Amino acid sequence: MIMYFTKGFLLLHTLLAFFIPQFDTLQDTLTISNPIRDGDLLVSKRETFALGFFSPGESTNRYVGIWFYKAPEQPVVWVANRDNPITDNSGVLSIDLHRNLVLYGEDKKQPIWSTNIVTKSNNKTTLAQLNHSGNLVLFINETSDVLWQSFDNPTDTFLPSMKLGLDRKTGLNRILTSWKSKDDPGIGNCSFILNTNSSSPELFLYKGNTLWWRSGHWNGIGWSGIPTLSSNDSVMNFKLFNNHYETSTIWGLRYPGASLFSRLVVNGSGSIQRSVSAISDQEWDILGALPLDRCDNYGKCGAFGMCQVQNGTEFECTCLPGFEPRSLSEWSARNATSGCVKKHGRASVCKSGEEFVKVENVKLPDSSFARVDEKLSLKECERRCLENCSCTAYGGVDVKEEVGCMRWYGELMDTRVLDGGQNLYVRVAAFELDHFKGFFAKKRRQAIMVVALVVTSLLIFLCAQCLIKRKRKGWELEVA
Ligand SMILES: *[C@@H]1O[C@H](CO)[C@@H](O)[C@H](O)[C@H]1NC(C)=O
Ligand SMILES: *[C@@H]1O[C@H](CO)[C@@H](O)[C@H](O)[C@H]1NC(C)=O
Ligand SMILES: *[C@@H]1O[C@H](CO)[C@@H](O)[C@H](O)[C@H]1NC(C)=O
Ligand SMILES: *[C@@H]1O[C@H](CO)[C@@H](O)[C@H](O)[C@H]1NC(C)=O
Ligand SMILES: *[C@@H]1O[C@H](CO)[C@@H](O)[C@H](O)[C@H]1NC(C)=O
Ligand SMILES: *[C@@H]1O[C@H](CO)[C@@H](O)[C@H](O)[C@H]1NC(C)=O
Ligand SMILES: *[C@@H]1O[C@H](CO)[C@@H](O)[C@H](O)[C@H]1NC(C)=O
Ligand SMILES: *[C@@H]1O[C@H](CO)[C@@H](O)[C@H](O)[C@H]1NC(C)=O
Ligand SMILES: *[C@@H]1O[C@H](CO)[C@@H](O)[C@H](O)[C@H]1NC(C)=O
Ligand SMILES: *[C@@H]1O[C@H](CO)[C@@H](O)[C@H](O)[C@H]1NC(C)=O
Repeated sequence: MIMYFTKGFLLLHTLLAFFIPQFDTLQDTLTISNPIRDGDLLVSKRETFALGFFSPGESTNRYVGIWFYKAPEQPVVWVANRDNPITDNSGVLSIDLHRNLVLYGEDKKQPIWSTNIVTKSNNKTTLAQLNHSGNLVLFINETSDVLWQSFDNPTDTFLPSMKLGLDRKTGLNRILTSWKSKDDPGIGNCSFILNTNSSSPELFLYKGNTLWWRSGHWNGIGWSGIPTLSSNDSVMNFKLFNNHYETSTIWGLRYPGASLFSRLVVNGSGSIQRSVSAISDQEWDILGALPLDRCDNYGKCGAFGMCQVQNGTEFECTCLPGFEPRSLSEWSARNATSGCVKKHGRASVCKSGEEFVKVENVKLPDSSFARVDEKLSLKECERRCLENCSCTAYGGVDVKEEVGCMRWYGELMDTRVLDGGQNLYVRVAAFELDHFKGFFAKKRRQAIMVVALVVTSLLIFLCAQCLIKRKRKGWELEVA
C-alpha cells in the first residue's frame, strides 16, 4: 500500500516535471538539500541573470559563474573559482553544514572553492539567492542576515547597484581585477580600485604595479577627470559615499526605468569599457572606454608637466608655469616622464614674494598628494597656500559651488588639459610673474602700437584727401 502510494507520487512528480520543466530550471535559490550540478542553472527573477557552470572562450575548463541570461553573448559578470578550474563535468555547488557555499569537483573531500566564512552554528536555514541585480546572496532565511554576497567579491565587472571601495565596519575592500585572457578568468594584471587612503578619494586603475589611470577627485557631481560622465552622460550616474562607515562608489542608470543591460568591465590591456544593450539588441553598444585618450595615462608628462592632446591622437607635453624640462634631450626625444623642475631655487624666493598663475581647464593633479579642506573658500585657499613655502599649487574641489580647497605640498603629478576641467593655481616667483605679466604687457603694447599706427596713417590719409579735395574745389571755383 505504502509502496503503491510512493510509486504514484513519483509518477505524479515525473509528470509534473515533464509538463512544467521550467519549474526546475528557473529557480533562483540554492538550499542545503538542493545543490547545483554542472548543467543546472539558477535564474534570477525577471530572468536577467543566471548562475551555473560554464567554459570561457576556447577553454574546456569548467567554472561557476554568473552571466547576463537574456543579453546578447551572455557575458559573464562574476566567477567563483577563478584560479581553480574544474577539468570535467563533476562540479557541484552546495551549501555545507557550516553555512558556507562550497564547490566540489571530482575530489569530494577537498573543496575547490568556498566562501570561507565563520558562523556560529544554529538551527536556522541558510539560503543562497541570485537576486535581480546579479548578486548571489548567502543569507539566513529567518533573520535575513547576509552572510556573504558575490557583490562583495567582484571579478572584472562593475554592475549597477554594486559597490566598489571600503566598508569600514568590516574592513572589506572591494576591487575589480581583469581576467588573464578571454579563455582564462583567473586573476589578471589590471585592477580597478577606489583609493580610500587620501582625504579625496579617486578611482585608480593599475596595470600590474603601475598606476595607469585615475578618475580625478570627486567634484560634487562626479569624477573630475571624466567630465562627460559626470553631468551629461545620458546613461550612467555615479555616487560617492565618504563617511564614518564607508568610502565607496556606486553607479546606476540615469533612467532606471529603461530596460537596458549595462556593465563596466576592466580588461587585460588596462582599459575600462562601459557598454549597454537593450533586450532586443543583437549586440552590446560600447559607450566609451577609459583611459579617454593618450593624455589620460597617469603621469604622461611627469611631475610638474602638463599633457595636451593634439590632433586627436597625438599629445604634447609642456611644463607648468615657472618650470622647465628636467632633461631637454629626453624631451626632444618625446619622452617626458622625467618631468619638469623649478626654473629658479625655490627656498630663496619664497619670502621675497610669490604669486599664482591660473592654468585653466585642466584635470587637477593627483589628489592623493593634496591636502583637502571641503569648507574653505578659494580666497582662503590661496592665503593658506601662500603662507607656506612648500605649497606648490591650489585649486577648488567642487565644480559647481567653487568651494573646497585642495593644496599640494610637493609634486604636481598627472595634470592634463581637459574640456570641462577646473582651474589650477600654480605658485610662481614674483619676478617670474612679472615675466608672465611682461609677456602679456609687451604683446598689448605691440597691439596698441599697431592700432596707433593704423589710426595715424588713416588720419594722415583722410587729411590728405581733405586737402586735395579742398584744392580741387579751389580749382573748380577758379574755373568757374
Ligand atoms: C538544534 O536542534 C536540535 C534538535 O533538533 C537541538 O537539540 C539543538 O539544541 C538545537 N540547537 C540550537 C542552537 O537551537
Ligand atoms: C541585490 O543585492 C544588492 C546588494 O545587497 C542590493 O543592493 C540590491 O538591491 C539587490 N537587488 C534586488 C533586486 O533585490
Ligand atoms: C524561508 O522563509 C519563508 C518565510 O519566512 C518561508 O516561507 C520559506 O519556506 C523559507 N524557505 C526555506 C527554504 O526554508
Ligand atoms: C602580467 O604581468 C607580468 C609581469 O609584469 C607579465 O609577465 C605577464 O605577461 C602579464 N600578463 C598579461 C596577461 O598581460
Ligand atoms: C592605502 O594604504 C594601505 C595601507 O597603508 C596600503 O597597503 C595601500 O596600498 C594604499 N593604497 C593606495 C592606493 O595607495
Ligand atoms: C553638458 O551639456 C551642456 C548643454 O548641452 C553643455 O553646455 C555643457 O558644456 C556640457 N557639459 C559637459 C561637461 O560636457
Ligand atoms: C580592452 O578595451 C580596449 C578599449 O575598448 C580595447 O581597445 C582592447 O582591445 C581591449 N583589450 C582586450 C584584451 O580585450
Ligand atoms: C594634424 O592633422 C592634419 C590633418 O588631419 C595633418 O595635415 C597634420 O599634419 C596633423 N598635424 C600633426 C602635428 O600631426
Ligand atoms: C624615458 O626616460 C626615462 C628616464 O627618465 C627612462 O627610464 C625610460 O625608459 C624612457 N622611456 C622611453 C620610452 O624611452
Ligand atoms: C607647510 O606645510 C607642510 C606640509 O603640510 C608642513 O609640514 C609644514 O610644517 C608647513 N610649514 C609651515 C611653516 O606651516
